[in-house]
Amino acid sequence: MRILFVASEGLPFSKTGGLADVVEALSKALVVQGHEVAVVLPRYRGTKATAVVMPSLTIPMGGTRLRFPAIADGTQLNGVRYYFVDDPEYFDRDGLYGGSSGDYPDNGERYTEFCRAAIEVTKHVWPADVIHCHDWQTALVPVLLRTSYRDDPLVRDIPVVFTIHNMGYHGQFTKDVLDRAGIPQGVFHTGGIEFFGKVNLLKGGLVYSDYLTTVSRKYAEEIQTPENGHGLDGVARGRADRLVGILNGVDYAAWNPEKDKLIAARYSSKDLSGKQVCKQELLELFGLSHDHLERPLIGIVSRFADQKGFDLIAEKAHEMMREDLVLVVLGTGERKYEDLFRSLAAAYPGRVGVKIAYDNALAHKVEAGADMFLMPSRYEPSGLNQMYSLKYGTVPIVRATGGLDDSIEPFDVEHGTGTGFKFKEYTGEALLFAIRQALHHYMDERIWKHIQLNGMAKDFSWKTPAAEYAKLYEAARVPRGLSSQAQSSGKAAPGAGQAGRGAGQTPQATGQGARNQKPVRTSN
Ligand code: ADP
Ligand code: GLC
Repeated sequence: MRILFVASEGLPFSKTGGLADVVEALSKALVVQGHEVAVVLPRYRGTKATAVVMPSLTIPMGGTRLRFPAIADGTQLNGVRYYFVDDPEYFDRDGLYGGSSGDYPDNGERYTEFCRAAIEVTKHVWPADVIHCHDWQTALVPVLLRTSYRDDPLVRDIPVVFTIHNMGYHGQFTKDVLDRAGIPQGVFHTGGIEFFGKVNLLKGGLVYSDYLTTVSRKYAEEIQTPENGHGLDGVARGRADRLVGILNGVDYAAWNPEKDKLIAARYSSKDLSGKQVCKQELLELFGLSHDHLERPLIGIVSRFADQKGFDLIAEKAHEMMREDLVLVVLGTGERKYEDLFRSLAAAYPGRVGVKIAYDNALAHKVEAGADMFLMPSRYEPSGLNQMYSLKYGTVPIVRATGGLDDSIEPFDVEHGTGTGFKFKEYTGEALLFAIRQALHHYMDERIWKHIQLNGMAKDFSWKTPAAEYAKLYEAARVPRGLSSQAQSSGKAAPGAGQAGRGAGQTPQATGQGARNQKPVRTSN
């Protein structure tokens, strides 16, 4: 099968979060399973291209305006072909989605152009059997294919699988973006991309794609509830028969302590001694004393966003620091969390080390050098770091939500089973309880090693999830209108027939649950 990924970030070219890891690793895993895969990304600042594939595409924006991005060749890596949409005015900027003063105000135009250009890539350069889109930045691909391109014999029948990596980021814009970006007015209705008078691009992806996936089974359930649907739970429920949860995997070529060149010493489950060398280096890098070598070291590597649950740490920081532990934190993002961790480092010099930075090598060193890895997320679609931690013998302490719940089993001392520590209630008390449980078991070296080895033995490689995606692509290729699932459910999902794509026919895309809508950012 020929699968075209369309994504706003992907390693090794661009990254702000786990999406980039997934785009690289899943495409590579699909190639290993015998598929042909190409990835279309924006050409951001620093992205190196080797050749020009198309020097100038004609992309209609609003009114009479046209733009002329080029398509650049990113060569083949791990068997995956890369193409970049090259429009320096839009993409050659400091950040991917915004800068210090917030999201770029023209993100609507930038990603509309990107989606149109991606469709042109499959039309002229790389014909695809299926298109796999990721998050709101790519949601206009299915919307445009089923509207503007509906008479185009070359692309109109290409099925689209759309993955929700994060329901909290909608790509919401005021209505005038329709004119500014040249988005068809006909899709602006409550069964299309309208969301309380605004344009909501994620909603377009949910409504117009043939299949929807999200990045864990648990999160696929959670996004159908008002608590975690971010106002789009009604739309998710309306498409429940086309929504599948597939837990992300780990790229063990990059995240494996036996081979990792970024850490101080290699180690394995057979010989963990290198881990202590890594801990020593980590203490040094964070300016903490070697005296702490025998103390439990908790690591955090994260985007600093409300999603990640750091308000719980803020609430219980001082009680937490009354325990005999050392904390190292690597992250960037919202100012209030940067300030929180800076102030903790100031209050507990020598015991709390903080780096406000994005640093991949250091992220590896934290995974290797820490004893425990803390992810108290408010919500977590999949989460990758907890699975990286397992491989590094670093015991995760997580909140039981989304992919954290699906990937971490609580340690059961009686049966010797389990890989980490979990808490359910979103409270500081519950967090403290889980931390104390972990600290308690850390005191018994034999038990602790047992937990470490349980985690290291887990296999979260991409093999199984990639095969599940491939199965879904096959299902999506069933000519629309003939899908057995759509027939047996008796529901005409928007992807289930050409007619269902038209204005007004999309079911249940009503934005129910909006009263529970949480504030959303427009970029990830
Ligand atoms: P999210 O995508 O919500 O940020 P994930 O757990 O899926 O969460 O993925 C986060 C990815 O970003 C991981 O690969 C993690 O190591 C990386 N990461 C996050 N913050 C940093 C940072 N400050 N420096 C280096 N890597 C980071
Ligand atoms: C999102 C989610 C994270 C997930 C990642 C990759 O950013 O927050 O949980 O692992 O996407 O799917």
